[in-house]
Amino acid sequence: MNTLNFPTLIELPKIIDSRGNLSVVENNKEIPFDIRRVYWLYEVPTGELRGGHAHTDLQQVLIAIHGSLKIIVDDGKNRQTFTLNKPNQGLYIGNNIWREMSDFSDGAVCLVLASKPYDPAGYIRNYNDFVDKQKTTKI
Ligand code: TYD
Repeated sequence: MNTLNFPTLIELPKIIDSRGNLSVVENNKEIPFDIRRVYWLYEVPTGELRGGHAHTDLQQVLIAIHGSLKIIVDDGKNRQTFTLNKPNQGLYIGNNIWREMSDFSDGAVCLVLASKPYDPAGYIRNYNDFVDKQKTTKI
């Protein structure tokens, strides 16, 4: 499946039940790729930042499964801030998007579903390098 151009929110199923609610995702259904890796951010101290990088070839969906956080996404030209605060909502982020995560609430847990195994070589960790690369690849 082609990557979408800019990050977008995905509404996930919420199966409401008096015993407690349930949300679910499946490959190539709610998630527009095959999930190859899952990790989660948690116990983030107040005021800490995460992210601060882009990935050249990685799709991800981020879900605040508990609490809330803010995510700045940036394609080198446009920048947008999303707040994630629902366990039944995900933020899809495709290739070559700079992201910065902040404002984690106390106890927040951010689940990340990723399309590839961990590869440190696929990171761009310098914002100016990222913007330069975007200028040369998107003419
Ligand atoms: P990093 O991706 O820089 O975290 P964030 O973007 O959330 O700030 O990763 C932090 C550390 O964790 C780094 O040492 C690499 C390691 N790590 C793995 O070993 N596997 C993974 O899948 C991820 C995402 C990180």
